[in-house]
Amino acid sequence: MLTRRQVLRLGRGFLAGLGAIAPACAFRQQHKLAAFESLYHAPLASNLQAFGMDRPDALKDYAAARNLLYGAAANPHGLSDPVFTAAFLRECAILVPENELKWQSIRPSPTQFDFSQADRLLEVAQRHHLLMRGHTLVWDQALPDWFDEAVDRQNAEQVMTAHIAAVASHFAGQLHSWDVVNEAIAVPYSQRSDGLHPSPWLELLGESYIETAFYAAAEADPQAMLVYNDRWLDYDTPRDNAQREAVLNLLEKLISKGVPVHALGIQAHLMGHETRFNADRLRTFLRDVASLGLKILITELDVTDRDLPADVAIRDSIVATAYETYLNVVLEEPAVVAVLTWGLSDRYTWLSSYEPRPDGLSVRPLPLDEAMNRKLVWTAIARAFEQANR
Ligand code: XIL
Repeated sequence: MLTRRQVLRLGRGFLAGLGAIAPACAFRQQHKLAAFESLYHAPLASNLQAFGMDRPDALKDYAAARNLLYGAAANPHGLSDPVFTAAFLRECAILVPENELKWQSIRPSPTQFDFSQADRLLEVAQRHHLLMRGHTLVWDQALPDWFDEAVDRQNAEQVMTAHIAAVASHFAGQLHSWDVVNEAIAVPYSQRSDGLHPSPWLELLGESYIETAFYAAAEADPQAMLVYNDRWLDYDTPRDNAQREAVLNLLEKLISKGVPVHALGIQAHLMGHETRFNADRLRTFLRDVASLGLKILITELDVTDRDLPADVAIRDSIVATAYETYLNVVLEEPAVVAVLTWGLSDRYTWLSSYEPRPDGLSVRPLPLDEAMNRKLVWTAIARAFEQANR
């Protein structure tokens, strides 16, 4: 197996070749690769191959042995593919509908609710004894087209609480957890000291929309674990450091007021090319969140390979190492109860359209390849679970 250093040298050779055609691009890439080298002294994916992929246990089994839930996001398109579905049922203990519970999916008009797609996913989950999560009750990015015209300062609170009451009570008692509020904080886009994202909800209702949403969810489904879910919490970068601080402040405020929030969801959309990972900073953040009495879920884990070398072995090694490095830190924290990847197979991943590779090759961010074979990422997750000391 190649060491990370060897892999990067190989990658550099490849990129140097590219450099003849596109010097500026190659310069940028070499810069990134140099950064990899100085950061990752540990051998890259050194003995991951030795762990083997041909094991009888699935990811959900490795997770369960450490008191963790493993699952993934899926959508009706993926679940209409019997090969994907078989793989999903083998590996996962919990399903999260990728889009089917968002406003855009269930609110065709201000007066209508359409639960048909979500109901079908719940039926699949229940038939196969999987848990299901709800994602998400309040998120400004998935609002329907009619929203701006129909919602104003006068009716905003009623529209939001009526939505939560209807949706959360439709599924009451049947979901493991709800992402009640998603991505309320975006420090880079915020003019405010609390980092709140300038969403329609914030504009119409002020910051109290967050607690209002949690109270409404608790009333409609007293059994579900209520989660605040957010992104950019992973790296030692100015953006992520500020985001962690703002999220922690928000959670402290909610808890001190007695708002029924039970857990933090960390999206963990990681980047294979990002080298600024600081285990101590992440650990401290997780400890701080846990000390508020909150559980922690990793809700949307994936690793984009958009800016990695084309060679599949190299790419898979770097992506798998990013998973394992991250999970090794996260799984030390006893408050972490679940790890979900945002998709299971490279065949069905949002990153094909959101983070496509400039060279047009298909992306490889998830545990299974397009043919549902286990990849090094699968091994990295299985081994991180197996070695978790908890
Ligand atoms: C993404 C879905 O995967 C896409 O299919 C959809 O087009 C846009 O949303 N953070 C979230 C998820 O909380 O809801 C997003 O899902 C990915 C980023």
